[in-house]
Amino acid sequence: MDIYICVGSSCHLKGSYEIINLMKENIKKYSLEDRVNIAAAVCLGKCTDGVCVKIDNEVLCGIFPENFHEFFKETVLKRLNLQNKQDVVCGGDLID
Ligand code: FES
Repeated sequence: MDIYICVGSSCHLKGSYEIINLMKENIKKYSLEDRVNIAAAVCLGKCTDGVCVKIDNEVLCGIFPENFHEFFKETVLKRLNLQNKQDVVCGGDLID
């Protein structure tokens, strides 16, 4: 899974770098280093909507440190589980 985090000026002001750090921490926490790549994007075209990320060609916005964990579980972990049904999320730990 490729995740592009917008670091354009508007998203930068709204906390892109905090989101990048949270993304890195959670990828490590769930041992997803081999399954998730993160990269910066310049502008995803929805500047007024908060920090935006692009996952699987879908742009998702309104991501802030306060709702990051919900976003990560509901988007990243869920999509990975759908892609590989052998993975089970249990109590916050990813089990193969
Ligand atoms: S600056 Fe992030 S969508 Fe434009």
